[in-house]
Amino acid sequence: MQADLLIHSASQLLTLTSGPQRGSQLGDLGIIRDGAIAISGKTILATGTTAELQSNFRSARSIDARGKVVMPGLVDPHTHLLWVGDRAAEFEMRIAGASYMQIMATGGGIVSTVRQTRAANIHQMMEETLPRLHNMLSHGTTTAEAKTGYGLETQTELRMLEAILRLDESCPIDLIPTFLGAHAIPPEYTDHPEAYANLIGEEMLPAVRSWWEKNGGNRPLPFVDVFCEEGAFNLAQSRKILETAKRLGFGLKIHSDEFKSIGGTSLAVELGAVSADHLVRASAADIQALGQSDTVAVALPCTPFGLAEDAYTPARQIIQADGFLALATDLNPGTAWCESMQFAIALACRYMRLTPKQAIAAATINAAFAIRKDDQIGSLRPGKQADILILQAPDYRHLGYRFGGNLVDTVIKSGDILEIKN
Ligand code: NIG
Ligand code: FE
Repeated sequence: MQADLLIHSASQLLTLTSGPQRGSQLGDLGIIRDGAIAISGKTILATGTTAELQSNFRSARSIDARGKVVMPGLVDPHTHLLWVGDRAAEFEMRIAGASYMQIMATGGGIVSTVRQTRAANIHQMMEETLPRLHNMLSHGTTTAEAKTGYGLETQTELRMLEAILRLDESCPIDLIPTFLGAHAIPPEYTDHPEAYANLIGEEMLPAVRSWWEKNGGNRPLPFVDVFCEEGAFNLAQSRKILETAKRLGFGLKIHSDEFKSIGGTSLAVELGAVSADHLVRASAADIQALGQSDTVAVALPCTPFGLAEDAYTPARQIIQADGFLALATDLNPGTAWCESMQFAIALACRYMRLTPKQAIAAATINAAFAIRKDDQIGSLRPGKQADILILQAPDYRHLGYRFGGNLVDTVIKSGDILEIKN
């Protein structure tokens, strides 16, 4: 048979073909030693040993991956990658002793990024974001979720959605949008937060839906997310927003239990959310609920690290309760300016005690499941999109073991070998 590209002689080919992995199944990498993969156009044709594929396929191009790991592209299922400006001064305040929620309560935090993002046109938004996307790609992320949430008014939120669509077109990374109008109470509503929560349900969600019908092409609707936390949206407001979103046909996500446990995770499970993210303070009942659902627990270890806090998502308990666990960066200007899923993996191994193979499955097939793209990406299965990494390392455990650098040698996105300059 004829292929366009054959990658062969990989020390380890990580196929992860068993699908999304729950509970103790997490960590099944489906390793083929001396592995090979054949690609036709944008799609994976076959995987197997080098001997098998070299006898079955003729290929126009080939890559010798001797001494290297070949694996699926990393999937980052929780990012706030689009913003304007920075919050370096707040970082300094935090290191000097102020907390994230204290800074937010005094008009800084998310709202300070909102001020700068509202003032920017779509070109500025894109210009500031493109270098971050480039960084993500060079570190091996081939698909990422991207949230709005620095507009907090209909027009700026829609401008952010439009910017995400344009960035998706102008960069090889596939972007999966999420509407996060419920990210913070905007300054003009400080004295009547309930009115802003109502505005989201009554005006913003219907506006996003009709905007999407005109501009989204045949893409599925964005997800809808809420920051459910004391000082942001309480449980009743979160419920109302998410129930309205569900009625309008949106898939749901939630930021819950980042700082305090107020019931958001169980709410997410009850409403059939696609994922519940953060979960640092998740209660035993929340963890049990996750374990009996298909709501993916998305752990974001760059966030406590970025905030210099000690508590991390109780990943082992989530696994023990039979939950689906995924990893993401949470890339954002306040708590975690980190584009690298490799670094999230290294933190997850140390602070959440995931083994490297568990962390890799959480950052590929389970991350794809957290954005419900597991039928197209996240594993090296014939018929799936050819999103592939070649690592400058002979063994998968180098992911996690090594940190602060970049093990990616080559990124193949939808069958194209990318030229990436660092
Ligand atoms: O997931 N917690 C809410 N949202 C982000 C932080 C966003 C920001 O500070 O700009 C998070 O950590
Ligand atoms: Fe977040």
